[in-house]
Amino acid sequence: MKIITLFLSSIAILIVFRGESAASDIILGSTLTTRNSSSWPSPNNTFSLTFISEPQNPSLFLAAITYVGGVPIWSAGSVDSGGTLQLQPDGNLRLSNSSGAPVWESGTANRGVNTASLDDFGNLKLINGSNFIVWETFENPTDTILESQNFTYGKVLRSGAYSFTVLQTGNLTLKWNSSIIYFNKGLNSSFSSNKHLVSPVLMLQTDGILSLFDDTLPSSVVIAYSSNYGENGDMLRFIRLDKDGNLRAYSILRGSSTANSRWSAVEDQCDVFGWCGNFGICSYNDSSPVCGCPSENFALVDPNDSTRGCKRKVEIQDCPENSTMLVLDNTQFLTYPPEVSNEQFFLSITACRQNCLNGVSCVASTSLADGSGFCHLKFSNFVSGYQSPSLPSTSFVKVCSPAEPFTPLAGSTQFKSSSSKLKTWVVVVVVVGAILGLVAIEVGFCWFFCLKSPKFGLSSMQYALLEYASGAPVQFSFKELQRTTKGFKEKLGSGGFGAVYKGALANKTLVAVKQLEGIEQGEKQFRMEVATISSTHHLNLVRLIGFCSEGRHRLLVYEFMKNGSLDNFLFHGESGKLNWATRYRIAIGTARGITYLHEECRDCIVHCDIKPENILLDQNYNAKVSDFGLAKLINPKDHRQRTLTSVRGTRGYLAPEWLANLPVTSKSDVYSYGMVLLEIVSGRRNFDVLDETGKKFSNWAYEEFERGGIRSIIDKRLFAYEIDMEQLERAVETSFWCIQEQPSQRPSMGKVVQMLEGIIEIGKPPPPKATDSSSTAVSLSLSTSIHSIFISSEPHPSSSSSAQGKHSSSSISMANLEKASSSLLAQEQSASR
Ligand SMILES: *[C@@H]1O[C@H](CO)[C@@H](O)[C@H](O)[C@H]1NC(C)=O
Ligand SMILES: *[C@@H]1O[C@H](CO)[C@@H](O)[C@H](O)[C@H]1NC(C)=O
Ligand SMILES: *[C@@H]1O[C@H](CO)[C@@H](O)[C@H](O)[C@H]1NC(C)=O
Ligand SMILES: *[C@@H]1O[C@H](CO)[C@@H](O)[C@H](O)[C@H]1NC(C)=O
Ligand SMILES: *[C@@H]1O[C@H](CO)[C@@H](O)[C@H](O)[C@H]1NC(C)=O
Ligand SMILES: *[C@@H]1O[C@H](CO)[C@@H](O)[C@H](O)[C@H]1NC(C)=O
Ligand SMILES: *[C@@H]1O[C@H](CO)[C@@H](O)[C@H](O)[C@H]1NC(C)=O
Ligand SMILES: *[C@@H]1O[C@H](CO)[C@@H](O)[C@H](O)[C@H]1NC(C)=O
Ligand SMILES: *[C@@H]1O[C@H](CO)[C@@H](O)[C@H](O)[C@H]1NC(C)=O
Ligand SMILES: *[C@@H]1O[C@H](CO)[C@@H](O)[C@H](O)[C@H]1NC(C)=O
Ligand SMILES: *[C@@H]1O[C@H](CO)[C@@H](O)[C@H](O)[C@H]1NC(C)=O
Repeated sequence: MKIITLFLSSIAILIVFRGESAASDIILGSTLTTRNSSSWPSPNNTFSLTFISEPQNPSLFLAAITYVGGVPIWSAGSVDSGGTLQLQPDGNLRLSNSSGAPVWESGTANRGVNTASLDDFGNLKLINGSNFIVWETFENPTDTILESQNFTYGKVLRSGAYSFTVLQTGNLTLKWNSSIIYFNKGLNSSFSSNKHLVSPVLMLQTDGILSLFDDTLPSSVVIAYSSNYGENGDMLRFIRLDKDGNLRAYSILRGSSTANSRWSAVEDQCDVFGWCGNFGICSYNDSSPVCGCPSENFALVDPNDSTRGCKRKVEIQDCPENSTMLVLDNTQFLTYPPEVSNEQFFLSITACRQNCLNGVSCVASTSLADGSGFCHLKFSNFVSGYQSPSLPSTSFVKVCSPAEPFTPLAGSTQFKSSSSKLKTWVVVVVVVGAILGLVAIEVGFCWFFCLKSPKFGLSSMQYALLEYASGAPVQFSFKELQRTTKGFKEKLGSGGFGAVYKGALANKTLVAVKQLEGIEQGEKQFRMEVATISSTHHLNLVRLIGFCSEGRHRLLVYEFMKNGSLDNFLFHGESGKLNWATRYRIAIGTARGITYLHEECRDCIVHCDIKPENILLDQNYNAKVSDFGLAKLINPKDHRQRTLTSVRGTRGYLAPEWLANLPVTSKSDVYSYGMVLLEIVSGRRNFDVLDETGKKFSNWAYEEFERGGIRSIIDKRLFAYEIDMEQLERAVETSFWCIQEQPSQRPSMGKVVQMLEGIIEIGKPPPPKATDSSSTAVSLSLSTSIHSIFISSEPHPSSSSSAQGKHSSSSISMANLEKASSSLLAQEQSASR
């Protein structure tokens, strides 16, 4: 009996083995053609080498290795119908077009190759008689690197005019046309300055972490985390240099035909040199980057493909002595190494325009207006533009007269030209009148101020400096914003600082316009804060586009977030939508944004109002923290009012020291974040009192947690999805650390990020509250208890009287103000260099 089974199973094994070798081995002389659907599959059919039709040009066929859903991960090249791919009898793998001419070759003729095989990791190998790999696709990548595939120093990925390499120093570089380096990211300098790498190897690990290895490094260095790193499933991860010049990490589910982008090297697609072609201008419509031409003086090279660039309708040579500079506001022509040094000049905006007009070989120029005083003159015959309302630069392009900028309203020009003489007269009279009026007012002002206040000149200079300071936001008039928001029609919500309205700028960019209330500060102070806010850029912070300060109107213009605020998803109707993976990503994103505010940006900002309402979600559910930097705008001297407003707005997220009138530090944000984190897990407001127990949710949750009942804390709606319990436990523990009553016990935000990511161990959190104060505790009684804690932990001279507490707190705000003005000084100095 036993012998028979053994015999049978060995036959089965034999059959399986034979089947595999038959499927994987490609014998000399084998041919694939575009005419029949033959392919060379890997043993378990995960990959196959075959012809696929090119998406852009269906008459061409790409000889490619594809993942099971059809996405190519390596290709030899493309040929017309009738082309072939043959492993020739001499061992050469050759792609030929229909007339038999070679298009691509592996170059392995007469090197002893006697078989080829495609393995289940996607590697095609040409092997000689003693099983030696003569040639393999993993060593000869095209535009893709698969997970676990080594990409060493010296190799190149190519896609159109773009190429990607790893330098000996470990820097990752992206180049256009083998010359212009538009991306060059080095390792953390503490690695590269002390170490000389020998042979750096870049690899996307199967857990989605892109790392760099080198023999001289004790461990791998993380370059980037895919957004879904650590998640597993039946999928393939890969890195690809896309046709648009961006390097991205992807993951794709088995059998799917679309890969999802999980990371991109160049965050802003418009920063990729040459993506929109020559004279193409990159900008954003709503959310996608789009390509267009500078003006009516240009036409698309290919009306069907705007990334092919633009050409002048009349060439400069054809209009001698009659060229002019077309003005492009909020536009920059990209300048990267190695061109920077010979294109950069120290010129004012007028000279920047005029010098280019007079220079025979100059085609365009950019006045940076970012405080640097630089002007870039473009002499090359390939220029790449970027237009965005947040760019302070103004650019000029040489065109044949007359310059014909795009008119925002297509109908209005026709209307103007058909208007009667009378109308023209009315316009002329009104315009002249207005100009005269303005001049009169200005003269009056100058007379008034110049004579009365000798300081006036100085402060207006400061305004000017601020306007041109780095990342200066766009200034809108109140009228403009009224138009943008259609008269403040569509209200998105109202926060502690005022109502928010939806709007669309002239270029169709959607924005959120916040009408600030209760701002009693002067214009100068307001502009200073706006400058600080708008110079704060991070992936997880909502970007400030511009502002308006006119009379008593104070408005801020932010980028628009499609999915609104987090509270909608946690506590209201949409709650079922967010699975655990998304919630976890939101938690980490929020923590990263706050970390940036606390630790990494130039003027450190304490948010003071972290709550789900201030965490916005973009179309991909990326978390973006909003309303940062606004706390300082509310009259900083009137301390009592500050406390009152905030308590009214966001009870439940305020740190105890805030209620106790003690100094508010970045640790207060940590407390609020901890509360939010617990809410992300539980899907309910922490300060809700539970009917069953009469306790605040956060207190009850800790007791449950201690008892090991973590599942009872979790939002029931999460059970509909897969939950990574380890992540969830980490989140719960982290949140309890954050809501410790004593600020010194709470971790810093940077540490919170590491705790969530699992990079550092999390100890068991102690109970958040020493004494269980009931939910109805008045802030007064709470404050006295905190006071005593503070006196014991850090010396605070006689802070037991609330008047003193008030004093110390307002001195903090004054210190912040000083910081802001010293940063202004720094800008002044760098501008005068
Ligand atoms: C496809 O065509 C090639 C070359 O003509 C031939 O060798 C191969 O057998 C064909 N395959 C099928 C499945 O017809
Ligand atoms: C095949 O390639 C050769 C050499 O590149 C070229 O001359 C010929 O026109 C091509 N034939 C077809 C049909 O594309
Ligand atoms: C095919 O083989 C690879 C490598 O051994 C393995 O990772 C993969 O899960 C296999 N796929 C199937 C469908 O068996
Ligand atoms: C295979 O290639 C290796 C390395 O070039 C060589 O040492 C070996 O002799 C070759 N084997 C055959 C059978 O050609
Ligand atoms: C890839 O590189 C790592 C580290 O240098 C090495 O351990 C591994 O063997 C390499 N893998 C392959 C397939 O070459
Ligand atoms: C790309 O570079 C080559 C040589 O460096 C140059 O001749 C060519 O004009 C460049 N292409 C473009 C579009 O500028
Ligand atoms: C490597 O990248 C850093 C920026 O991350 C840059 O300062 C440095 O010059 C680069 N090194 C080389 C050799 O390009
Ligand atoms: C660089 O690496 C060192 C050591 O790992 C780390 O302490 C430091 O924070 C890193 N700096 C940056 C800017 O990432
Ligand atoms: C923005 O451009 C993309 C790509 O051209 C297009 O698919 C999308 O519909 C556009 N969106 C808007 C709001 O115009
Ligand atoms: C653009 O597409 C249309 C229809 O698809 C085609 O008729 C036309 O020839 C194309 N134009 C160019 C310049 O390729
Ligand atoms: C320059 O261009 C303008 C506008 O097209 C035209 O009226 C004028 O006659 C031209 N002058 C010369 C010298 O060509």
